[in-house]
Amino acid sequence: MAESMKGLKRTHRCTELSAANVGEEVTVMGWVQKNRNKGGIIFVDLRDRSGILQIIFEQGADLSRAVDAENFAKAETLRSEFVIAVVGKVEKREGNTNTAMKTGDIEVRATQLRILSESETPPFPIEADSKTKEELRLKYRYLDLRRPDLQEKIMMRSRVAAKIREFMTNEGFLEIETPILNKSTPEGARDYLVPSRVHPGSFYALPQSPQLFKQLLMCSGYDRYFQIAKCFRDEDLRADRQPEFTQLDMELSFVDIDDVIEVNERLVQYVFKDTVGIDIQLPIQRMTWQEAMDRFGSDKPDTRFGMELVNVSEVVKDCGFGVFTGALENGGSVRGINAKGQGEMPRKKIDALVEFAKGFGAKGLAYIAIQPDGTLKSSFAKFMTEDEMASLVKAMDGENGDLLLFAADKNKIVWDVLGNLRLEIARNLDLLDKDQYNFLWVTEFPLLEWSEEENRYVAMHHPFTMPMEEDLELLDTEPGKVRAKAYDIVLNGTELGGGSVRIFQNHIQEKMFEIIGLSKETANERFGFLLNAFKYGVPPHAGLAFGLDRMVMLMAKADSIREVIAFPKVKDASCLMTDAPNVVDAVQLEELGIAIVKN
Ligand code: AMO
Ligand code: AMP
Repeated sequence: MAESMKGLKRTHRCTELSAANVGEEVTVMGWVQKNRNKGGIIFVDLRDRSGILQIIFEQGADLSRAVDAENFAKAETLRSEFVIAVVGKVEKREGNTNTAMKTGDIEVRATQLRILSESETPPFPIEADSKTKEELRLKYRYLDLRRPDLQEKIMMRSRVAAKIREFMTNEGFLEIETPILNKSTPEGARDYLVPSRVHPGSFYALPQSPQLFKQLLMCSGYDRYFQIAKCFRDEDLRADRQPEFTQLDMELSFVDIDDVIEVNERLVQYVFKDTVGIDIQLPIQRMTWQEAMDRFGSDKPDTRFGMELVNVSEVVKDCGFGVFTGALENGGSVRGINAKGQGEMPRKKIDALVEFAKGFGAKGLAYIAIQPDGTLKSSFAKFMTEDEMASLVKAMDGENGDLLLFAADKNKIVWDVLGNLRLEIARNLDLLDKDQYNFLWVTEFPLLEWSEEENRYVAMHHPFTMPMEEDLELLDTEPGKVRAKAYDIVLNGTELGGGSVRIFQNHIQEKMFEIIGLSKETANERFGFLLNAFKYGVPPHAGLAFGLDRMVMLMAKADSIREVIAFPKVKDASCLMTDAPNVVDAVQLEELGIAIVKN
């Protein structure tokens, strides 16, 4: 039966007690982690968000050392996850201390027990490193969130947010909220729409980011803005993507790339030092997009290991292997990676790598396995002369015992295939050190990307991103070659954040819309409010947004952002606990003027 806590006040969290409190009378409250009845003496591990404390209930006549019969009888009924309040005295632990426990050298000898609430047997044990399937844990997320490793991550997230606010405020940034119910301005991911009751047939869109509003705040003179902002994107989910996620979003006036990078490097340094004790050396390395693609096949390279791409197009351009020369004739390239010391990889494993490569659009994967004695095993030797093979091996720095893997195709596919293959091999060989934090700025992104589906250029970052001044002339002639004043911050192969210097000159913005096929009318319809604002005095401005979930995920060494989000969604964007999204009442739909079409 549930008792009240009337008259009691918690004095400490479980692990706020230590040997320094020995002799004190304390009141602690929390959940029963486990209890052991040794007959006449009961040990209870009491848990709260700080950790675990041992409570001891002893039967006996000496009430300075024991609980009375009524309280002891109550203690005998305790079961896991009961919520209790205990009044007692802190003592040094008799006998063996438990060094694995923060409070391992003390215990609380109870004089009073109240059962504040009972618990049914939980569907899975509340313990660290749970073996329970994630689906079940997510269904009972409120129980999952009691587990110490998850609590650690959620508390770390709170610390990170607090440190961010502290840093940004000290640097003169103002925290300003922007609306959640917005106008739909599709460009990029799909919008989440919210029907309007007052305007039947009209919809709000949830923000994909506060982008337009933060630019407006610059027009309004706020100078330095930041926000820990919820963003919503209806896109396919992955381990590092959620339909709703959180950005640390910012915008600055009267700045250029280096100013944004400088303040953000110090921010990252401050937050990492203060929350996980990691020293980040500044300045953070910078690499152009072109170099990142050429060396790592990725715009978010993991630089914790080598296995860099080598362009062998020149070496193979006249060889007898049609796959290679064909790709070159089609304007593509032939590139390879050298998996050092993997020359004796079994055929089955190589075949698995070929299949992996095909998953990224490769038509195949050519290989040379250099045996320890120097002989070559290769999937395409029959098309090549010995000299051609030798110069290819040399170009790849191939030594006895190495495995060389080649992809031939359009650049985009070759980069994607080898960039991902490189990561896959590193994962298989356990080359990724979780204790190493390799930050990197990737700069000079292409402004535009050609979309095969839409048969037009689309903005690689967003249409408000400023082209590099030195490339402005190319806008008319070769837009595909124009580089942008855009930058991403990458940590261990994850895109942590991205941003850009914005266009603030009308004629450049108009040109940009024109190139991405947005008519003046459509641009005005969608972004008229921003374009109008620019007519009344707009400062040069630039900004950036971090994925806060991703940042905390990497700090906490978690495998997925779900582990650092209190109530995450699963792959199909549903919530296993609340069953959102759900079917709504006919009345609700009627009010909104919405009819569901069944197909
Ligand atoms: P961008 O679209 O690059 O830029 O987003 C910024 C950062 O947000 C994180 N992120 C996500 N995290 C979890 N789930 C998602 N679905 C998701 N999508 C993005 C990433 C990413 O680097 N307005 C611009 C920023 C700017 O130009 O200032 C923007 O939103 O870590
Ligand atoms: P084939 O002549 O089709 O038997 O191919 C010979 C070798 O070339 C096989 O190992 C294929 O996997 C590989 N291969 C085929 N297409 C490509 C490609 N586009 N890039 C790299 N290797 C390829």
